[in-house]
Amino acid sequence: MSKVLFVCLGNICRSPLAKGLATKIAEEKGMHERLFFDSCGTSHYHVGGPPDARTVENAKKNGLILNNIARQFGKKDFREFDFILAMDKDNMTNIKKLDQSNEFAEKLFLMRDFDYIEAGGDVPDPYFGGEEGFQEVYEILERSIKNFIETKFD
Ligand code: 4NP
Repeated sequence: MSKVLFVCLGNICRSPLAKGLATKIAEEKGMHERLFFDSCGTSHYHVGGPPDARTVENAKKNGLILNNIARQFGKKDFREFDFILAMDKDNMTNIKKLDQSNEFAEKLFLMRDFDYIEAGGDVPDPYFGGEEGFQEVYEILERSIKNFIETKFD
């Protein structure tokens, strides 16, 4: 069983959607017994809360029901997970600050390292924007996660 953790800032927009999408894609590929997905945020802002209503609405529009309660990234996650995928470079910086000896560097990736259209960029933070930003995030995550699963597990 491989364990994959998606990390954004608030754990209410990008990473809960990534967790829901990855779980669905793994089920469709019959890989759900080999893969476990979770999500968290580098901030404590929304700990204990459900995904943002706009993320829930966008997911529903795309046929996805989300199931997540926000929690903050912690040092124990470095040992618990095999892959830690940060949604953007700011969150990667926050994660690396908690790994000062660089012990877990080989587990850390940017989500868009796996985007075959625009590799290495950020998954844009949709929080302060409109609905089109949520759909853009959905499309980036869908292709990045499919490619991640195919690259690492197929
Ligand atoms: P997320 O989006 O990191 O994708 O969950 C955000 C959610 C909340 C805030 C920022 C980004 N915030 O500043 O409260």
